[in-house]
Amino acid sequence: MNIILIAAIAKNEVIGKATGEMPWHVTEEFKHFKETTTGYPVLMGRKTFQTLGKPLKNRTNIIISTNDISIQGNPEVFVYKDILSALEFCERQGYEKVFIIGGGTIYAQTISIADEMILSYMNFEAEGEVKFPEFNRREWDVWKVDERELFTIFYYRKKSL
Ligand SMILES: NC(=O)c1ccc[n+]([C@@H]2O[C@H](COP(=O)([O-])OP(=O)(O)OC[C@H]3O[C@@H](n4cnc5c(N)ncnc54)[C@H](OP(=O)(O)O)[C@@H]3O)[C@@H](O)[C@H]2O)c1
Repeated sequence: MNIILIAAIAKNEVIGKATGEMPWHVTEEFKHFKETTTGYPVLMGRKTFQTLGKPLKNRTNIIISTNDISIQGNPEVFVYKDILSALEFCERQGYEKVFIIGGGTIYAQTISIADEMILSYMNFEAEGEVKFPEFNRREWDVWKVDERELFTIFYYRKKSL
């Protein structure tokens, strides 16, 4: 099963505000995110789930939280108390890939086990406290670059050791 991080990152590495909000709204980037992840499981931290306000449609939503959060009997939403148990669940379900969709704490804990990353680098800086974690670019190959009006999507694959 491929573990794929997907994120949108401002020029100053900001991905969000401490309050949970996204500092920008770029429709084309959300469209890219939706097209890429639809049909696959998406794994996220509790704060990101709360920011979304509701589960993402046509995707199995997996939330990581130490708390017992209410999911109101939604058959497409699962809560796990740790990341590894959530990934084991995805393996058991036979998923070919799982998308890690944030936020900052979840990216930081999964970048070392990820196989691929799809990172949208926005053409602007943004205000916010949550940043994408630093990573060693020498460990990754860029196999595709897709330039859009307000952002450029870099497709990374982890180099095999
Ligand atoms: N630009 C982007 O692509 C993008 C994507 C996603 C999110 N965001 C932004 O990122 C921000 C949210 O990121 P964040 O770092 O503040 O929060 P987060 O990663 O979304 O969620 C953090 C929470 O996840 C749970 N958690 C994390 N690691 C855990 C572990 N190992 N075991 C159990 N639970 C764990 C904890 O929930 P409990 O406290 O309930 O235990 C923790 O408080 C928002 O501003 C959002 O808009 C941006």
